[in-house]
Amino acid sequence: MYEPSEYWDKIGKVSTPGSGDNSGHFSTDETGTSFYQLPRWTTQPKYWEYMQSNARVLDIGSGNGLQVGRLTQRGVFAVGCDIAFALLKAAKENMAAHGINEPMLVQWDGVRMPFASNTFDRVTTNTVLQHVVDDSTLDSILGETSRILNPGGLFLICELVSPRDVRTAPHVKMRSTQTYRRIAASHSLRITKIRHRASTYIALQSVYSRLLAPAAGLGAVPNSMGQTSPDTSAPRARNINRVTSLAKRLARRFVSDFAKLADPLAATLHLDHRLAGQDEIVFEKDAK
Ligand SMILES: C[S@@+](CC[C@H](N)C(=O)[O-])C[C@H]1O[C@@H](n2cnc3c(N)ncnc32)[C@H](O)[C@@H]1O
Repeated sequence: MYEPSEYWDKIGKVSTPGSGDNSGHFSTDETGTSFYQLPRWTTQPKYWEYMQSNARVLDIGSGNGLQVGRLTQRGVFAVGCDIAFALLKAAKENMAAHGINEPMLVQWDGVRMPFASNTFDRVTTNTVLQHVVDDSTLDSILGETSRILNPGGLFLICELVSPRDVRTAPHVKMRSTQTYRRIAASHSLRITKIRHRASTYIALQSVYSRLLAPAAGLGAVPNSMGQTSPDTSAPRARNINRVTSLAKRLARRFVSDFAKLADPLAATLHLDHRLAGQDEIVFEKDAK
């Protein structure tokens, strides 16, 4: 069972303190190997073109604090919120390492946002909604986002998307842009721009989870924190775990190398719009 605050707290605890440069790591797997390298501090913030200096910005699911930190450094009023206390702590350390001593970070229960209505001009979120696997929770989050945004304000997201909604791991649900459009529309948020970045690797994950895994009687792809693993305290279980972890890493490497070759081919064949990928979507709240 995926329980978001527990899962992300565990990740926060194994995050490299002070990370955020290209050496930083978000977390490690059960063998201590890093599986996700943090984006460079200097590649943040996302959506810079939408950030006027007087904008009030909320980043939801602020993680290690990259977006909030960079915006603050560039003179924008930015607040971060996250469900995981350990990640808020990691974000604080991370930002202090970059000279930001009083970051605005608040804990979030995953739905209710502790802010008055019509407070922010921009709400950003990067790879967070894909981890809200329950549609009714997503609906509530979009409702809250709309409430705290000023009329005419923008909600800027970057998430895994797939032509059809599919759960690809216990903690990941890829949704279609239509699903985002429909849920957002019921909260006065309408899509004004989509930048689709197709990825053969993500498309393969989506196809595997939607078609191959159910046909073969397999579950969703086990997540990298070993949630689906057996008890790892016994030496034998630890060894089995190491072997499966190595096999998973090799398989991932193989598929990702294959995908690197396939991406340009998909683009040449104009198939990119049909492939799953990572989308940047801009929503605008109705101005009335
Ligand atoms: C992949 S991380 C991305 C962190 C950050 N936005 C970034 O780009 O580095 C996902 C973040 O979303 C938060 N999160 C995930 N699921 C959540 C949920 N259901 N409710 C609230 N926050 C959640 C996690 O605590 C974590 O910080």
